[in-house]
Amino acid sequence: MSDFLKFSDPLELWVSTIRTFVDEELKRVCENLKNEVPARLLDSMSYSLLAPGKRLRPLLVYLGACSVKNGNLSSSLLREAAPAACAVEMIHAYSLIHDDLPAMDDDDLRRGRPTNHRQFDEATAILAGDALQTFAFEILANIADTQPEKVTPALRILSRAAGAPGMVGGQMDDMLFSPNALRPVLPMTLYGLFPEVSSDFCQAALERFGASSWTPELRALESMQDRKTGALITAAVMLGGLLGGAAEEQLFRLGLYGQYLGLMFQITDDLLDATSTASVMGKQTGKDDGKGKITWVNHLGISASRQYVARLNQLARQEVCEDAFPNPSVLIELLDYVAHRTH
Ligand code: IPE
Ligand code: IPE
Ligand code: MG
Ligand code: MG
Ligand code: MG
Repeated sequence: MSDFLKFSDPLELWVSTIRTFVDEELKRVCENLKNEVPARLLDSMSYSLLAPGKRLRPLLVYLGACSVKNGNLSSSLLREAAPAACAVEMIHAYSLIHDDLPAMDDDDLRRGRPTNHRQFDEATAILAGDALQTFAFEILANIADTQPEKVTPALRILSRAAGAPGMVGGQMDDMLFSPNALRPVLPMTLYGLFPEVSSDFCQAALERFGASSWTPELRALESMQDRKTGALITAAVMLGGLLGGAAEEQLFRLGLYGQYLGLMFQITDDLLDATSTASVMGKQTGKDDGKGKITWVNHLGISASRQYVARLNQLARQEVCEDAFPNPSVLIELLDYVAHRTH
């Protein structure tokens, strides 16, 4: 069986090769809608979905799948996991369109271009987001072509992560954020979100995490970030594990890895909001403070946030150890890549 990518290939090659492949797939599935969808709606959906994003979530689907195999990406696994890779990116693109709306973060710039409602109009942007969300599930169901027994668990993972217990709930918290709202912290959120993860396993992880000593404010902030960004990142890596044939413990571990990585990703997003520029990021920066958002960075400061990212990096690393996975090296390398990202 030919390998499309090998675990020994540099991470940059994985990132760019998967980005190119996923971009082509997304373009193809959008073109297939041409005769079925009003032209303006399809233009608006394609405008955001095909805009230059990092494609981190599709990459995670592939890394999750490869980590439970021999670490390499075969051509057949590339095809088998493509519906899940495209589906997570569609949910992400929809979440960005809605996140930028005037009623939410009211942003004008996304992925270096005018936001969807600026390019089209608000009604079209709302509908394009809605359409991308349902399209994600239609595409995900295509895993039935190769692994029909995985359709139900895959739908459950993605719907809970995208929905009210996950991303949408986190966005609600972001809008309403009250630091007094005490919510479960990371491993317990994982347990609540994904029935595949056992509570004993999460309890042990919670103790390692040390969150029992946290203030209610930190717990609430953590829970918001964990839902709004962590849930979809976690779903991506778990979907990959599921399609790759992960054993139960491997799926738990991938779930925790996803949660730690998701938090790292949102805290680095908050750090970049405070320290980078619109031309580097392709979106406005300095907006969290301006809008009175509560983030790790304005709650704890830049240096404590960086230390926390380093701690999450260590915790995530422990979950994808070589005792549990045949070859987790690319998943491990991705942690430093996210921790030190500049975009
Ligand atoms: C931005 O996500 C929104 C957050 C969850 C922080 P990304 O930084 O992955 O955005 P793209 O996909 O590369 O544009
Ligand atoms: C967005 O968080 C999380 C989503 C679910 C889209 P932010 O509001 O910080 O994302 P950016 O900074 O606009 O990309
Ligand atoms: Mg937001
Ligand atoms: Mg935003
Ligand atoms: Mg942000």
